[in-house]
Amino acid sequence: MVERETEAGTVSEIKGAVHKELKHDSAHKHVSGDAIYIDDMPEPKDMLHIYAAMSEHAHARITAMDLGAVKAAKGVVCVITAEDIPGHNDVSPFAGDDPLFADGLVEYIGQPIFAVAATSIEAARAAAKLAQVDYEALPALTTIDAALEAGSAIEPMQTMGQGNATAALEASPNRLTGSFRIGGQDHFYLEGQIAFAKPEEDGDVHVFSSTQHPSEVQHLVAHVLGTPTNAVTVEVRRMGGGFGGKETHPAMFAAMAALVAVKTGRPAKLRLDRDDDMIMTGKRHDFRYDYDVGFDDEGRITGMAIEMASRCGRSTDLSPAINDRAMFHADNCYYLSDVEIKSHRLKTHTVSNTAFRGFGGPQGMLGIECVMDEIAHHLGKDPLQVRRVNLYGGESRNTTPFGMTVEDNIAPALLDALAESAEYERRRAGVRAFNAKSPYLKKGIALTLVKFGISFTTTHLNQAGALVHVYADGSVHLNHGGTEMGQGLFVKVAQVVAEEFQIDVDRIKITATTTAKVPNTSATAASSGSDLNGMAALDAARKIKARLTEFAAKKYDCPKDRVTFRNNNVYVENKEIPFADLAREAYLGRVSLSATGFYKTPKIHYDRSRHKGRPFLYFCYGAAVSEVLIDTLTGEYKVERVDILHDTGRSLNPAIDKGQIEGGFIQGMGWLTTEELVYDEDGRLRTHAPSTYKIPACSDRPEHLNIELYKKGRNVEATIHRSKAVGEPPFMLANSVFLAIADAVSAAGDYKTRATLNAPATPEEVLKAVMSVKRQAKN
Ligand code: MTE
Ligand code: MOS
Repeated sequence: MVERETEAGTVSEIKGAVHKELKHDSAHKHVSGDAIYIDDMPEPKDMLHIYAAMSEHAHARITAMDLGAVKAAKGVVCVITAEDIPGHNDVSPFAGDDPLFADGLVEYIGQPIFAVAATSIEAARAAAKLAQVDYEALPALTTIDAALEAGSAIEPMQTMGQGNATAALEASPNRLTGSFRIGGQDHFYLEGQIAFAKPEEDGDVHVFSSTQHPSEVQHLVAHVLGTPTNAVTVEVRRMGGGFGGKETHPAMFAAMAALVAVKTGRPAKLRLDRDDDMIMTGKRHDFRYDYDVGFDDEGRITGMAIEMASRCGRSTDLSPAINDRAMFHADNCYYLSDVEIKSHRLKTHTVSNTAFRGFGGPQGMLGIECVMDEIAHHLGKDPLQVRRVNLYGGESRNTTPFGMTVEDNIAPALLDALAESAEYERRRAGVRAFNAKSPYLKKGIALTLVKFGISFTTTHLNQAGALVHVYADGSVHLNHGGTEMGQGLFVKVAQVVAEEFQIDVDRIKITATTTAKVPNTSATAASSGSDLNGMAALDAARKIKARLTEFAAKKYDCPKDRVTFRNNNVYVENKEIPFADLAREAYLGRVSLSATGFYKTPKIHYDRSRHKGRPFLYFCYGAAVSEVLIDTLTGEYKVERVDILHDTGRSLNPAIDKGQIEGGFIQGMGWLTTEELVYDEDGRLRTHAPSTYKIPACSDRPEHLNIELYKKGRNVEATIHRSKAVGEPPFMLANSVFLAIADAVSAAGDYKTRATLNAPATPEEVLKAVMSVKRQAKN
């Protein structure tokens, strides 16, 4: 309980109420090393270590595989291939096209072909090298362009739009076309993929998996083992980061560990090292973005055709929904009356790309933000003016290309507030003045916006469950289907329960997610973890509270509305009963103090065949101004200052939300600046360790990074305590860094041409663009 001074005198309130800044429940354990990850769990003495052997070819038939020497190697206990699978050889989320082990055909370098279980990981790894595998190489498609040309896709091209783009483009007074590339991104979670399986009685198995989606891992392990789902329990206390990379991929590793455990009767662990993790697991989709835009002399878009093509890799995975989300965000905050969006989902002989923070949204959104700057340059206007005239607003300008009405548009207000607080106009003039005097160092500045839709666009996934127990001593056990990956979901849901019972948050035990407590859950993804699980936990807590209220009213003979919960006590009329005492009395009175809770998101619907509907309950908004300094002789740059204004509604926990905004922004900055995935001609990833793949370091954090929550923020929809999701939207605030770099590059050619940058804007890419604008300025 904490005391608080108010005008009415001192009132006490519970510790950890909603809307209060509270540190992450495991923060101290994260830094001290006391937080237990799967690899920290004590290893049983007969435990086996698993190594998965990988394909060396991007596309080939396996003509022969002799594993005799592998099986005979020192320390090896068992070797498993496709033939050893008792159930189905598939670990795909829905499409049925992700074999656990290649069965005669390999389709990417890194595809598992068999696994070795041995007494040590060194022995398993050494044994795998003894395999004799004969391949017959087949032609491989490894790039977007090659797949597009060959018509190789994981599903047919999708189209979304409204109005008549072709006619509108023809009638437009101004018109621009362009094309650029957007790179992929490795998740680089600190804890790599890992699974630990323990055999149980009757062929059952208990799997500890670093997964955002325990129910799917459970389902797929059962599918591979050929058992009913109830033979498999999946548990995860926390992940050392997921970022979307642990939405579908963990099933593969969990299934291998479970197979070995069931087959040998010994516990088994599979932990990938960093190189293998980067080679074997899918990433953010890289895109090619082509546009044709028409606009009036104010820069208002009058017609637009967008064509996006993404590299999905060898299988379907979540690529349909990811590419749909790219289309859903191709408008960002801007009204497009006449637009056609085409989206190609290409099948290539590279690892199957997957969910990554923003789920395709960042790629779609970066496209139109770049187009805004192209239009501004063409008209000689400040890009902010062009953004302003294109904003959604008013009844005739509020329908998205997918037919949803934008009802909660705060983008104009956010833009104005940030432009003022960050002194955008004064600083833009300052940048121009600096550049006029500085021949080699150039500055750039950009303000970009974010509008991000919240809900799974696959409607049925928007459901969640929770389980709450109140013990007879008044302490509470909280469980729900959401998973903790560092984002602070667990503490937020605990705050919701603390608020409802009006007890201090430290009386609530946060517990590991397990399929044995809450069944049939969705992945913790789409930023909706706290929206969904917060509501489900609230539902459970309310059920118990209603029973306690009824019990107290009866026992103390008063109307139910005279029973209130406040400050760790229950008040019955004027009688004060500590919460713990009432819990004991209720137990003795034979009242059930355990309840499940459930929630499903209202209002949403979507017709995918027409790409029309209301896929989102609401939108999250944010805005950022970034200022950068580039060295035109080397292409190196520094992000000097960033100002962010972001809306999290009535934040459940402003401290956690600010952390998410900072982390998301920096991760987005990495995607657009230093993180470059390089595949060679054979489709082999050449950047599979921190030596060649550079994520942002502490020293890359902008020296001035001002993050403010939008103070008037309040969700117009009845979400949990009127909060808004925060996990993914801030990622796209980094678009401002990319456009600030492009602005600085343009300065190198005296703003005569605008730099068309491909992402990531590595120093090499920046230098190329500088040379190009300089050349064009001379002509
Ligand atoms: N924050 C941390 N620290 N670690 C993560 O892995 N994943 C992000 C985001 N923030 C992630 C994170 C992604 S991709 C999503 S979808 C959300 O958190 C998921 O959690 P939420 O729904 O509870 O916000
Ligand atoms: Mo996040 S990409 O939805 O896991």
